[in-house]
Amino acid sequence: MWLAFLSVSVFAALVAGASIDVLRSAVQNVDDCPSCLTLLGALQSIAITGDDPFITTLTSLCIGLGGADPDVCTGLLAREGPILAHDLRQISTTGQTAEKLCDALMGMCVTHPVNPFTVPFPKPPPAHPKNFRSRGRAPVRVVHLSDVHIDHMYTVGAEANCTKSICCRDFADSPETPTVPALPNGNSHCDSPVSLADSMLEEIERLNPAFSIFTGDVVEGAVWLVDQAEVTADLQAFNAEMAAKLSAPIFPSLGGDSAPVNAFARSTSGTTNNSQWVFDTQGAGWEQWINQTAASEVEHDSGSYSAKVPGLNLRIIAVNTQYWYKQNFWLYDSDVFQPDPNGIIAFLVDALQAAEDAGDRAYIIGHIPLGKEDTLVDQSNYYDQVLQRYKNTIAGQFFGHSHKDQFEIAYSNYSAQTAENAVGVGLIGPALTPTSGNPAFKLYEIDPDTFEVMDASVIFTNISDPEFPVRPKWGLYYSARDTYGPLVGLAPTEPLSPAFWHNLTEAFATNETAFQMFNTFLSRGGAVGACDSDCKNTTICDMRAFRSENNCDTPAPGFSLRRRAAIVPHDFDACEGTGLAQIFAHMAGESQSA
Ligand SMILES: *[C@@H]1O[C@H](CO)[C@@H](O)[C@H](O)[C@H]1NC(C)=O
Ligand SMILES: *[C@@H]1O[C@H](CO)[C@@H](O)[C@H](O)[C@H]1NC(C)=O
Ligand SMILES: *[C@@H]1O[C@H](CO)[C@@H](O)[C@H](O)[C@H]1NC(C)=O
Ligand SMILES: *[C@@H]1O[C@H](CO)[C@@H](O)[C@H](O)[C@H]1NC(C)=O
Ligand SMILES: *[C@@H]1O[C@H](CO)[C@@H](O)[C@H](O)[C@H]1NC(C)=O
Ligand SMILES: *[C@@H]1O[C@H](CO)[C@@H](O)[C@H](O)[C@H]1NC(C)=O
Ligand SMILES: *[C@@H]1O[C@H](CO)[C@@H](O)[C@H](O)[C@H]1NC(C)=O
Ligand SMILES: *[C@@H]1O[C@H](CO)[C@@H](O)[C@H](O)[C@H]1NC(C)=O
Repeated sequence: MWLAFLSVSVFAALVAGASIDVLRSAVQNVDDCPSCLTLLGALQSIAITGDDPFITTLTSLCIGLGGADPDVCTGLLAREGPILAHDLRQISTTGQTAEKLCDALMGMCVTHPVNPFTVPFPKPPPAHPKNFRSRGRAPVRVVHLSDVHIDHMYTVGAEANCTKSICCRDFADSPETPTVPALPNGNSHCDSPVSLADSMLEEIERLNPAFSIFTGDVVEGAVWLVDQAEVTADLQAFNAEMAAKLSAPIFPSLGGDSAPVNAFARSTSGTTNNSQWVFDTQGAGWEQWINQTAASEVEHDSGSYSAKVPGLNLRIIAVNTQYWYKQNFWLYDSDVFQPDPNGIIAFLVDALQAAEDAGDRAYIIGHIPLGKEDTLVDQSNYYDQVLQRYKNTIAGQFFGHSHKDQFEIAYSNYSAQTAENAVGVGLIGPALTPTSGNPAFKLYEIDPDTFEVMDASVIFTNISDPEFPVRPKWGLYYSARDTYGPLVGLAPTEPLSPAFWHNLTEAFATNETAFQMFNTFLSRGGAVGACDSDCKNTTICDMRAFRSENNCDTPAPGFSLRRRAAIVPHDFDACEGTGLAQIFAHMAGESQSA
């Protein structure tokens, strides 16, 4: 099959041993979708000669074109290279899968529409949906933590100003004498030391929540070094740390923690390569909070589960969002389109139907919010269909991954984005890791009858405070009810409903002071980027995009790679640090300006 796509010149060049030059020029020529597909053809011709030559060639290219530091190029391609080579051996370089791979690697070919698919539901919506009425009882406290990214090799005194995605470690190429020695408790160039996570968990315990939700990402961002042994040890260590510090139940969801990072093979990918070890590790680690039945779901349903919160008519449905994530390179190993890889959407439907049948409400938790540019438009659309069907049951949706304090609104009609049409909202929790701002978590007050969110506060610690290295001080950053409520005239008994969040976007559109406050809040005042009127327009558009097909992030076709490389630090989500997409962007940017 692939032979048909092997260009004669590429093959000749290979025979002449000039594969690096061919690849280099293919990278240099990428500035649109066809040229990206040509690059895939060149990569495919090397992949068919075997994993080893593929990895060797790409590693030389990565180092030669400044894709990343040499040790990062070597480690990352040794890990991700075999998956990419496997993909390229399975697919045609002219099909939709190849276009999606170009999107994931280079930000090209991104205009493909959603593949139509109607999610099947076991029952039609009830004629008389259950009315969940507030009895005005005292709210219940819930903590939402996310993206802890704990670095067990954080070293006080190590270089904190390095050229990698995280510093404060003794890397093989670290200088003898650090220019900026890392202090205790954390640094904005480094992932979280254990002491910072301990300090946050102690603060959460002091706040005495009824339960906590954790939306994933445990492992640090030195992804070119991470392996299965480290991921397993890190997941177990954080489960033990939470168990030791928190007395109330914790409902966790999986993040991108696998080896290599974000790589979750599909059930159709073959039996030797799978992430069953992640599901087994977390099933065993979470059983103490979610019970044995749910733990068994984690192990048999690719990391997803549904569990009841003790004492409340509320279910937590945790979904593994990695099968919808563009940077999971296992998703590109077949030309056969799969609407629901590993049945995650089907699992969600069954869990919601069970909640509806029981008259319970549900919170959906997961790592990656559905609306951003990094989520595949197909599964984002199908999830949205599920949300529309079960909107009366779903009382909240909580995500992480962006490291930012954000929200995304779902509408019954995305062409008529009004308060009346707002049917759901995804609340995105800030990160503990200081790499994208001040360490923080969210504290919700929820109505114990409707489970609607009455308030969402951000609790943070200021890494610039001189006391931080001695002892992080945690405190209220802001309360959404107190700060945003007056902007939309929120009445005292009203929840922070989807309509509330919509009205807030209207207030942001007209009130520049309020919008800039939101922009500062994104990073808890720790990494504030300027946001001009174009940026504001995109930001508000994205707040109204629970489905990724509706966001305004998509680069236009022909988007200059040089520009793309220049915006890499902001354009890519902070969770990745360094990934294949980053090194390709850097290689292309470097070669075009050379
Ligand atoms: C899949 O697993 C096999 C056997 O462990 C290994 O040799 C191969 O490199 C793996 N493939 C990928 C793409 O990781
Ligand atoms: C960090 O390193 C960069 C480049 O090596 C250098 O330009 C910068 O001055 C350093 N920052 C500090 C605070 O030493
Ligand atoms: C676990 O909790 C569910 C409710 O979420 C319940 O149906 C199930 O029986 C429980 N399993 C065990 C083993 O306690
Ligand atoms: C959605 O809104 C658009 C714009 O107001 C309108 O033309 C369209 O009929 C609406 N669709 C439905 C299904 O109501
Ligand atoms: C949203 O704004 C509309 C129009 O101003 C208003 O009717 C509605 O009550 C507001 N809803 C909330 C929850 O603020
Ligand atoms: C605009 O937002 C600021 C900051 O929240 C607030 O103080 C001010 O009252 C708002 N202005 C209007 C007209 O609502
Ligand atoms: C954090 O502390 C620094 C130094 O004291 C101060 O300038 C800054 O305003 C503080 N940031 C926040 C969000 O409180
Ligand atoms: C963003 O800009 C477009 C084009 O100028 C405009 O149609 C749209 O209303 C703007 N959106 C917001 C939220 O300001």
